[in-house]
Amino acid sequence: METIESIYHRRAVRHYTPEAVQPAVLMQLLDAAVQAPSPLNSQPWSFAVFCGRARLAGFSTRIKEHLLLTLPSTCDLHEHVDRMNRPEYDAFHGAPALVLICAKPQGYSREESCALAAQNLMLAAHASGLGTCPVGFVRSWFRLPHIKDELDIPGTHLPMFPLVVGHPDGRPAPPNHKRPEILVWADGASG
Ligand SMILES: Cc1cc2nc3c(=O)[nH]c(=O)nc-3n(C[C@H](O)[C@H](O)[C@H](O)COP(=O)(O)O)c2cc1C
Repeated sequence: METIESIYHRRAVRHYTPEAVQPAVLMQLLDAAVQAPSPLNSQPWSFAVFCGRARLAGFSTRIKEHLLLTLPSTCDLHEHVDRMNRPEYDAFHGAPALVLICAKPQGYSREESCALAAQNLMLAAHASGLGTCPVGFVRSWFRLPHIKDELDIPGTHLPMFPLVVGHPDGRPAPPNHKRPEILVWADGASG
């Protein structure tokens, strides 16, 4: 039941209290992340953890500059670009911690595996009373070679799935999750 509760009630949380997430708690979440399945059990994930709202706010300012320069030419998310132009825009939603799931150089289906690890982490965080939000927008900045260098992320490892973690400030309204779109359902009677 707890798993079903987490699946149905986890939300992308975009408001956090200033309370820090303790390192031991973050470690438990990483431990839940690495229980995810991966092809041939290759476990092609690794983690960079950045704590502190001031640190993340500093990243956000730099990411905003980077995205405003690069995003308009490469994608059509203009509504989001407009939002970024506002001074209060924070790519990390004021969260106290960022977990950047990175793909290791070896392993199979690295993107899918990192996403499954991310989902484990988000469900485990929800079950512990914490909030999370994937922040895909920031990924390209963490992939810049000079940023990886500055942040001690090995050049061989590819930032794949960034997500923030913190204590939720309020409960987000559930968005509309559509009913499953079933393309084919061949029953066993005649097959
Ligand atoms: C790969 C990925 C990237 C995302 N990037 C962002 C992001 O940059 N900023 C953000 O606020 N939410 C981001 N989200 C969260 C989605 O907007 C959110 O999951 C979706 O609206 C559904 O809401 P729910 O998670 O509460 O069910 C991302 C989600 C995924 C899966």
